[in-house]
Amino acid sequence: MCGIVGYIGKKDINKILLDGLKELEYRGYDSAGIATMSDGEFKEYKAVGKIKNLEKKIYQTSETKNNTDKSSTGIGHTRWATHGKPTELNAHPHLGDYSYVVHNGIIENYKELKDELIQVGKKFVSQTDTEVIVHLFEYYFDKLNDSKKAFDATISRLQGAYSILLITQAQPDKIYFIKLGSPLAIATCSDGEYYIASSQSPLIGLANSVTYLEDGISGVVYENKVEFFEKNKRVTNDIKWQDLPISKLSAQKDGFRFFMEKETYEQSSVIVDTMMGRIKDDEIVFDEFDSDFLKNIDGVLISACGTSYHAGLTGSYLFERLSKIRTQVEVASEFRYKQPLLSNKTLFIAISQSGETADTIEALKMAKKAGLKTVVVCNVDNSSMTRVADVTILLRAGIEKGVASTKAFSTQVTVLWMLSLYIGKQIKTISNKLLKSEIKALRETPKYLIIDENIHQKCQRLSKRYLHGDGFFFIGRDVFYPLSLEGALKLKEISYIHAQGYPAGEMKHGPIALADEKLFTIALMPKGLLYEKTKSNVQELIARDSVVLSISPISFKLADDFIKTKDSEHYMHEFFEMLVVLQLFSMEVAIRLGNDVDMPRNLAKSVTVE
Ligand code: F6R
Repeated sequence: MCGIVGYIGKKDINKILLDGLKELEYRGYDSAGIATMSDGEFKEYKAVGKIKNLEKKIYQTSETKNNTDKSSTGIGHTRWATHGKPTELNAHPHLGDYSYVVHNGIIENYKELKDELIQVGKKFVSQTDTEVIVHLFEYYFDKLNDSKKAFDATISRLQGAYSILLITQAQPDKIYFIKLGSPLAIATCSDGEYYIASSQSPLIGLANSVTYLEDGISGVVYENKVEFFEKNKRVTNDIKWQDLPISKLSAQKDGFRFFMEKETYEQSSVIVDTMMGRIKDDEIVFDEFDSDFLKNIDGVLISACGTSYHAGLTGSYLFERLSKIRTQVEVASEFRYKQPLLSNKTLFIAISQSGETADTIEALKMAKKAGLKTVVVCNVDNSSMTRVADVTILLRAGIEKGVASTKAFSTQVTVLWMLSLYIGKQIKTISNKLLKSEIKALRETPKYLIIDENIHQKCQRLSKRYLHGDGFFFIGRDVFYPLSLEGALKLKEISYIHAQGYPAGEMKHGPIALADEKLFTIALMPKGLLYEKTKSNVQELIARDSVVLSISPISFKLADDFIKTKDSEHYMHEFFEMLVVLQLFSMEVAIRLGNDVDMPRNLAKSVTVE
């Protein structure tokens, strides 16, 4: 949630900060702001809404047009509101009397700190938790007259999870930073300039060497140098620098209208990457595991949020069916507070595209603390979860920029399918015959994710009809039930239309009361799994006038609309093909409504608050 950038150097600071914020905009876009300092003089710009509003403001002021040749220091932020409304006053950077701060995460004890600071005469102008940081810093600086000591004293008082950048007129050529539970990376290039960001995308193309900070690392960036500290002690050897990729190409839209569309189209090729090197002849190979890692495992516990949770739920069917291992799936925000009974013979699997989702990180930490072996299935290397889990299995989906997750889901399900086979083999619960036929099906899967243009066009046409009405039910059985949850989530998050996923067989236990001509039903009717049972459930809805769109390889005349998917021997092929249809359908409805598909309202790409 939210994005942070910082820069010290002689380049055009406004441009560098703005470009960096544009890269992070998908993480939050309620408001944005930058604060820069050149020749000891501060400039601040803030705007509500997207970065383009901030850009307009900056370039309306003619003196900001050219800013080269002098050394400047600056910080910027794009916000997803947690405390206080998305207004300019609440936008970062927050100013004290002579310092600015930007912050990701949450300061849990901000109320106590705020009361304390008000009592010593500090004036607050925003409703944010962030503002306490800058006042606290200045309170200590006024006492200690040393900005490093004041910064250390400040962070020693903060509770919560955060990453922070602070600049001050008291020492204008420095940026102070701390990382604790929220990501932060520092990068440099041959010019010796320093760039800071909360993820690597703003750094690509500018710098060539990067360090992803560990929790508890603070420090100071100067022009040409950076110092790192942990608990006030200087650290040098433990800071690992690594090369940054040099091309931004993979993060561009490539002619598609939206990142979501591009990422939907990419799925067929990215799952090839997901499988690469992990299928050898008739074996699944995960080099990520030591040979005895899965020894004595008698159950699997999966925890995740949102789309990743839906992947986990899909995985639970595959684990029980293919590896015959007891599998439980928990929404991470529930799991963390239910005081679960945990056995150290259970394998814990966290699933997360970003690796930064606060609830999933906590669930993972809880499992680890309870002595469970932990695995994270994740798309972002060097993310918080990959640092906690015993084993990381990377999705290899490439950067996912659309807020509505697409290729992360298909790669997650692919990894879980492979894992179910791998575990089955390790614990000797799967026959060689079944393993062989499943691997064959896995290998064939990418072709079911290739988008049929006729289907895409049909979704475009149908989107007109399915704009109105009282809402949607997406229904399916078995793995098509989690798929129906995912279809409903996609539709609601980008079209803002109410939609609910439901097990097809459960409709008659209550929800069917809603059926009438204003209720739309999207029915997932695979040929290879419980077709007749699902068909009966759909007929029950048709009998009560619900408008039905059937997605199936078998033509179903009673439905109002029908999208024909390919015939396949394996239900997982049908699963992936229907997934694409659902993604395209929701995207086309959202486009027809004129919504911003990549940055839907109220959402953010990475949810680092609980
Ligand atoms: C929906 C979506 C979210 C995320 C959820 C978890 O399209 O993207 O529901 O799946 O916020 O995020 P990760 O996977 O990053 O832990």
